[in-house]
Amino acid sequence: MAKRPKIVLIGAGNIGGELAALAARKELGDVVLFDIPDKEGLAKGKALDLEQNGTVLGYDAHITGTSSWDDCAGADVVIVTAGVPRKPGMSRDDLLSINLKIIRGVAGNLKAKCPDVFVIVISNPLDAMVYEMKKVTGFARAKVVGMAGVLDSARLQLFLARELGTSVKDVRAMVLGGHGDSMVPVLSYCTVNGVPVSQLIAKEKLDAIVARTAGGGGEIVKLMGTSAYYAPASAAIAMAEAYLKDQKRLLPAAAFCEGEYGYRDLYIGVPVIIGAGGVERIVVVELTSEEKALLDKSAAAVRELLEAGARL
Ligand code: APR
Repeated sequence: MAKRPKIVLIGAGNIGGELAALAARKELGDVVLFDIPDKEGLAKGKALDLEQNGTVLGYDAHITGTSSWDDCAGADVVIVTAGVPRKPGMSRDDLLSINLKIIRGVAGNLKAKCPDVFVIVISNPLDAMVYEMKKVTGFARAKVVGMAGVLDSARLQLFLARELGTSVKDVRAMVLGGHGDSMVPVLSYCTVNGVPVSQLIAKEKLDAIVARTAGGGGEIVKLMGTSAYYAPASAAIAMAEAYLKDQKRLLPAAAFCEGEYGYRDLYIGVPVIIGAGGVERIVVVELTSEEKALLDKSAAAVRELLEAGARL
């Protein structure tokens, strides 16, 4: 009899709590909510609340809260949100020095306790955090991925659907590149049930939608004083589910490039296949020369961030 997968969530804050709620509702496995000792009560309290929620909604999942790394041993999937979120007026890059130290500590513990785990990083600035995670753990590139593209693409899909007055279900879109101002909405692959959006929306409108997408996280930070958590959690759960159920989904995600798209030793948002092997493949798609130039610019911005991180 197969055992339930063990899903460990590092960080029991806003995104961590929503991740736990979704993982439980979808019955993806048993959930461990981990946080620092000062926040152990928060982790335990959310876990208990969510277990009680299961008796109302009717899901079978054991959810526990902890601040002990021993409880994380043997995880199948780890989703990392440890760190601080943005406050209004901050860019994701402003979080670098605080969150880098946190990620280094988390990565060291994961290496010791969960050597075979599939790691999904959410903490910002994402591209630098996921790079550090791979560097410190030494895990294979297939086992360390960053969540950004699914979220950024969801934002783009929403804005396109609202502009067109169509269901969000029919809009497919892909945002590549770094998870920052330089992200690249790849309009040549944005369609409404196969119809290219360029046939349906005027260029000026599309430009405005692209700009709103790139600032989509900041728009929410400005409104509520902290960063988004529902859509980020759903996006990471889609990636975890693709791994646990071997779905072979093609999703945009921050992956470690070893020559793909001309990049090396760099995490950046590219289309990947996620299945039981983790990031099984980076899919290299054709881009227009304008899109490739934007991706190169985004890669340069990520490299700058990595260089800043290396000095810390
Ligand atoms: N180990 C585990 N948890 C930690 C650590 C650590 N070393 N350091 C901090 N945390 C915890 C905090 O105690 C807090 O409970 O991480 C949690 C973060 O939760 P929130 O502050 O609610 O932030 P959240 O909105 O969940 O965002 C987390 O994801 O999208 C990114 O920019 C966002 O970097 C931020 C991260």
